[in-house]
Amino acid sequence: MPESQEKAKQNAAIAGAAMVLHGMTVGLGSGTTAELLVAELGRRVRHFGLMITAVSTSERTSDLAKLAGIQIVDPAEIKTLDIVIDGADEIDPQFRMIKGRGGALLREKIVAAAGHKRIILVDQTKPVLQLGTRHHLPVEIAAFGQHWTLSQLLKLVQKVTLRTLPNGMPFITDGGNRIADLHTGPILNPESLQATLLAIPGVYETGLFIDLCDVLIVANSTNVQISNRPKPA
Ligand code: 5RP
Repeated sequence: MPESQEKAKQNAAIAGAAMVLHGMTVGLGSGTTAELLVAELGRRVRHFGLMITAVSTSERTSDLAKLAGIQIVDPAEIKTLDIVIDGADEIDPQFRMIKGRGGALLREKIVAAAGHKRIILVDQTKPVLQLGTRHHLPVEIAAFGQHWTLSQLLKLVQKVTLRTLPNGMPFITDGGNRIADLHTGPILNPESLQATLLAIPGVYETGLFIDLCDVLIVANSTNVQISNRPKPA
C-alpha cells in the first residue's frame, strides 16, 4: 500500500476512534483500516483508561484487539451495539457499499445491523459514483453444493470466481464458508441485485451493504471529511 494511502487510513481511523466514548459497546470491523482503528482504540484504552466492550467481525480483528488491551466479548452476549466502525471497498453517494474483500462480510453485516450508529472509514480511493466499477462483488456461500450455487450465480453475471488462497486451496471464511467473487460491472440496481442473490439457496450473504452506513469518514493524507448519510429524496 502506498505510504499516502496508509496515512489516509490512519487519519480516518483516528477520526473514527474519537467517536468511541467511555462505556460504549462497540462493533469492530475487519481489514487494514479497521486494524488501524483497533490500534488507536487500544492506545486510548491503555493510556487514557477508555473502557469499552467490543465484539469483532473476524478472528483476526479479535486477536489484534485482545493484544491491544480491548475487551472482546462473545457477540451472543450483546443484543445491540452503540457504535460499529468498519471499512469498505466501495461506497456510492447514497452510502451504499461493497464490502467483503477480506472475506468477513457475513459477520460484518450482522454486526452492522446490530449497530445503533454505523461509522465507515475509507481513504479517498473508495468513494465511487456507481457500485461495481472497481471491485468484484463478494458473496458468501455454503461449501455444501458450492458448484451448483456457483452455476446459479453465473446465470446473473458475466463471470464468477471461487476465491482461493495463493496455494490454490479455497479461501475459507471464519464461519467455514466460501466466497464467490462476482464480476458484475457497474451495478444499476443494488437493492434488486441483493434480493435476487439472497433468493438463491446456498447464498448466505452478499457484500452489498445498503442502509448500513450512518456516518462516512473519508480521509486523505492531510484531511478528514465527515458526512451523515443523505436523507432519501
Ligand atoms: C473486509 C472488508 C473491509 O472492510 C474492506 O475490504 C476494506 O478493507 P481495507 O480497510 O483493508 O481497505 O469488508 O471483509
